This record gives sequence, structure tokens and C-alpha cells, in this order.
Amino acid sequence: MKKGIYILSGLVIIFSILCLIKDKRKENEVIKNNNPYEIFSFYKEENLNRYEKYFNNNNLSYKDTILRVNIGLDNSFYTNTKEIINFDKLMLVNKYNYVSESFKVPNLVEVSEFAKDNMYLEKECMTSFIKMARDASINGLNLRAISTYRTYEYQENLYNNYLKSDGLEKADTYSARPGFSEHHTGLAIDLDNIKTSYMNFENTKEFTWMKENAYKYGFILRYPKDKENITGYMYEAWHYRYVGTRIATYIHENNITYEEYYYEFLDK
Ligand code: DAL
Ligand code: ZN
Repeated sequence: MKKGIYILSGLVIIFSILCLIKDKRKENEVIKNNNPYEIFSFYKEENLNRYEKYFNNNNLSYKDTILRVNIGLDNSFYTNTKEIINFDKLMLVNKYNYVSESFKVPNLVEVSEFAKDNMYLEKECMTSFIKMARDASINGLNLRAISTYRTYEYQENLYNNYLKSDGLEKADTYSARPGFSEHHTGLAIDLDNIKTSYMNFENTKEFTWMKENAYKYGFILRYPKDKENITGYMYEAWHYRYVGTRIATYIHENNITYEEYYYEFLDK
């Protein structure tokens, strides 16, 4: 009699497990057949579970869900980081993508005018910057580069000083850890107008001009207001990135970050 009960219980357990497996298979099939993410060219099958999870926890469209997960934003900043080995004019350096200490920028040239000290930029970026600063000066405005290309070592010192004065959490909101700064690419420039601190650049005529004209020379405002959750940095009115006029125009017109542009159009 007891033996019979054991056998029956065993059969019930096995049956329940089989039903569970079947249900799970069915669920996966439903997701697969009704996959709302698949229609996007930047969809990555290996990220499907992450899209589902992120979609359920955030009030975002399918498109934004995919882009944010592909950027890496479903994990904290500085996790699952990837090294970029070779320079590329459209490279994305951010809190998920870094360069090593030995990273080289080809065609690094000295900024011939409109710079505070001896500074260097990638050649095409430098030429466009000079053109932009000249046109601004025709309009009576002063654009001056105050920080351009930075070595790993330079950023390390800078970041460590901020760490000491402000602590990790605060420093991370405004300074990149060494290797993770866009300034390593030779494609980024911090600006002031000579008279006012760069921290007040937002309130200058030069900034108003940059807002309307920077994209025409291929520059974008890299850390815009209200995009901190995507870029990982507080608003920086003074920091510009060279991406060329076509992409800068698109970003300007669509009010998106370089992260979003990169993962929609450039990520391979
Ligand atoms: N301030 C910018 C984020 C940098 O440190 O590169
Ligand atoms: Zn900067």
C-alpha cells in the first residue's frame, strides 16, 4: 500500500515537472514569434532577455529599450567594459568603452590658434575647430580651446585629484576615469571665451553661438542637459566632440546623444 503511494507521488512530481518544462517552452516560443524587437536593424538576439527585463522595468519604447541595453545601461557604469584598440574618427569612448595607456592617435597636431597653451588635436578635428573659431571671431566672439588631447597619465592625475577632493561618487559625475576620457581620442575640446570661467560657458554669447552653429563644423555638445542617465556625466556646456558635419547635423536635429547615434547606426 505504502509503495503504491510512493509510486503515485513520484508520477505526480514527474508529471508536474514535464508540464512546467512545456509551459516554459511555450513561453519562449511566444516571445520568439511575437518578438517586437526583431524589426530593428540594431537588434541583437543575444540581448533578448535583457531587452525584456529592461522593457518591463522602464517606461521606454522598444527602440529606446534596445538602444539602451546595447549601450550597456542595464548594467551600472564601468561594468562589462570593452577596450578599443584602434583609433577611429567615429570611435565612442564612454563609461563602457576605454582605451589603454598605450593608445595612439594618428595625425595628432598642435592647435595653431585659439588655444590657451600648447595643445594637440587630431588633424581633421583641428582644422574644423580653427574654421569654427575664425567664423565665431568674425562675429566678435572668442572661442578658446582650454583642454584638448589628454594622455592617460594626465587623466589619471586629474581624476585622482578630484577623487581626493570630492570622493568617488561625486568625481564620477564629472570626470572620466583614466582610459575612459573622450579627451584621449584627440577629438574632444573644452572651450571658454577667455574672459569667463569655462564653468560659466553656458551663460556666454559664445555658447549661444555654439548651440546654433557647432554642428555646421562637425561638432556636437557631448554631455547635454537631461541626458546624464545616458552619457553618465553631468551637463557640460563646454565639452564638444568632433564627429563630422553629417552626423553632427543628425544629432543636432534629433536631440540625441552620441551613444544613441552610435548604437543605432555605427555599432557592428
Ligand atoms: N569631463 C569629461 C567627462 C572627462 O573627464 O573626460
Ligand atoms: Zn572635456
